[in-house]
Amino acid sequence: MPMPSAAPRSARVYADWAASYDAGFAAEMDYRLPAYVAAAFLAAGGRGPVLDVGAGTGLCAEALRAQGFAGEIDGVDLSAEMLARARAKGLYRALHHADVTRPLPWTGRYEGLVSSGTFTHGHVGPEALGPLLAVLAPGALLAVSVNLGVWERMGFDAALATWAGRLTLRQTLDVPIYGAAAQALDPAHAEDRARIVMAVAG
Ligand SMILES: C[S@@+](CC[C@H](N)C(=O)[O-])C[C@H]1O[C@@H](n2cnc3c(N)ncnc32)[C@H](O)[C@@H]1O
Repeated sequence: MPMPSAAPRSARVYADWAASYDAGFAAEMDYRLPAYVAAAFLAAGGRGPVLDVGAGTGLCAEALRAQGFAGEIDGVDLSAEMLARARAKGLYRALHHADVTRPLPWTGRYEGLVSSGTFTHGHVGPEALGPLLAVLAPGALLAVSVNLGVWERMGFDAALATWAGRLTLRQTLDVPIYGAAAQALDPAHAEDRARIVMAVAG
């Protein structure tokens, strides 16, 4: 039996969360993951146009720009409310409202792909790799964070092996998701870590 989609629940959660996401969650938890993903992408020579998967309010694009990236950035997200926040920042060439676990409703030939915080509990699993690979140019560089709490359960090792002909793993980098401030606010998640998967599309 196919897994039920997490998309309807995610869309509801983020509709309510969009307004307070940056100033509340991200600032108060000292949310560092977008900066780590951007740094990993740029250190590996990432270039545009780049697709930001689960772009949310645009924190990964902000991190890319803050670290000197001048290339074009498109974003995709399930939540219209999160995308509205991202659009207001004026950092993206285009923003697409779509579920990345399904075939994407536009064609693309991206040279890069970044994603922070989207491959995680109750969100997106490795089933998104097929639709995303379809919009990447051969040789495109990916820097994708996966919450380590779901790495095994969602089957990322098996998925990377399955896609080995289309995706070459370069390295992985395990990083903290939050800074020290998270301890006071949410001790249960303060120590959460993510694995940044660096890979090249074939
Ligand atoms: C934790 S937020 C991360 C947002 C941003 N990348 C960041 O690091 O702040 C996860 C984002 O993934 C989006 N998302 C969840 N499921 C999705 C799906 N199936 N397709 C596209 N976006 C999805 C949510 O709407 C949300 O904006």
